[in-house]
Amino acid sequence: MIALNTTAVAWVIFAVVLVGWITYYFLNNAAARKELGSEVEMAPNRKPYYDDEVLEGRRLERVQLLGVLLLVTMVIGLPVYWILEPGRQAGAVEYKQDQFIGWGENLFQTTANGGFNCAGCHGGLNATGGQAPYAVTDPKTGEVRAVNWFAPALDTIFYKYSKEEVRFILNYGRPFSPMSAWGAPGGGPMTAQNIETLLVYLESIQKQPEGCLTETNFSPTADPSVCDGGSVPAATQDEIQKAVDTYLAQNPGASQGEALFNLDLASGAYSCARCHTQGWSYGDPGVTGQGAFGWNLTGGATNTHFPTEADMISFIKSGSSNGKKYGMQGQGSGRMPGFGSMLTDEQIKAIVEYVRSL
Ligand code: HEC
Ligand code: HEC
Repeated sequence: MIALNTTAVAWVIFAVVLVGWITYYFLNNAAARKELGSEVEMAPNRKPYYDDEVLEGRRLERVQLLGVLLLVTMVIGLPVYWILEPGRQAGAVEYKQDQFIGWGENLFQTTANGGFNCAGCHGGLNATGGQAPYAVTDPKTGEVRAVNWFAPALDTIFYKYSKEEVRFILNYGRPFSPMSAWGAPGGGPMTAQNIETLLVYLESIQKQPEGCLTETNFSPTADPSVCDGGSVPAATQDEIQKAVDTYLAQNPGASQGEALFNLDLASGAYSCARCHTQGWSYGDPGVTGQGAFGWNLTGGATNTHFPTEADMISFIKSGSSNGKKYGMQGQGSGRMPGFGSMLTDEQIKAIVEYVRSL
């Protein structure tokens, strides 16, 4: 289609140019002076020119002025261009970035707004968490049941996963859940470019790390390194603590670690049960920690991979990486998120003590 258009445009240009030249040929012929006579007396291209008065007067000044203007262009114009160039380049990068965010947002939109409905399941354009209707089949009875499957908040996803790990999730989805494969590698409808713009969009809606100053509260003394790899903002920590308190109020006698492991659905983006307890995501939890998408953590199974508490703490802080060894003879897939930027060291220690007691 595009090739066809380009060829068509080229033909039109060719035709216009051809007609132009033919017209010019005839007009020029018609306008030409008749030959005046013998070339010796008066060659056809000879005519009286300006006299010295005119040549060395205003005409000369005009040409000189033109020279000066050209000089000014080079001496001032080029350096100014050179000085402004980095700014122009930065502007171009920012413009492209904004364009990517816009494209990603279009894809992220609800179906009603022409998108792929990420917003519909994940709780709006800011992806603060939502629920998705789904049908689960009971493995024993074969009974099919309609449930609402928890779709986690995505506004902290890059605190837990690297960009490549999120790319994997978008490409392949979570096949056992309402989260389908979106990228072409997983059989989904999106191109690699679509996935890239979605990733840039997701980056743009991340909560800003504690101490990271954005354009709105810029300060020249701020440490720019805080903005990548910092911890979640205090408000999010408060939110997590509040969810822990709610859990403890409903389950008297539970430990901090148990509460953090099992946080309620609204705070599910920070919980472990979402992946390690079957059925937690649709309100029908099986045995805590007995494994679902994430592995079985009960009965000391996990302790064989982590002889010491410290090994397990460091694993939960960093999460797994694809192909990388962890603990004793554990090989990661990159699907276990890292919680080091979301939870405090004490919280992780509490969780680990709880997990080791399962
Ligand atoms: C039909 C509802 C639905 C749609 C549409 C949907 N998701 Fe999901 N998504 C889910 C559910 C449910 C999960 C959690 C699956 C699980 O339990 O592991 C999920 C998980 C994710 C995760 C992993 C989050 C984590 O912390 O484990 C990412 C990233 C994600 N979705 C991004 C997207 C993007 C981007 C789109 C749009 C292209 C999208 N989702 C569309 C329902 C949906
Ligand atoms: C998004 C899903 C997900 C969440 C949330 C999650 N995990 Fe995991 N976890 C996994 C997966 C998948 C593995 C398997 C290792 C891999 O594939 O890299 C795993 C592995 C582990 C292991 C190692 C098990 C072994 O025996 O090797 C431990 C321990 C663990 N998770 C603890 C936790 C704790 C504690 C939390 C909450 C702070 C948590 N996980 C949250 C998905 C998850």
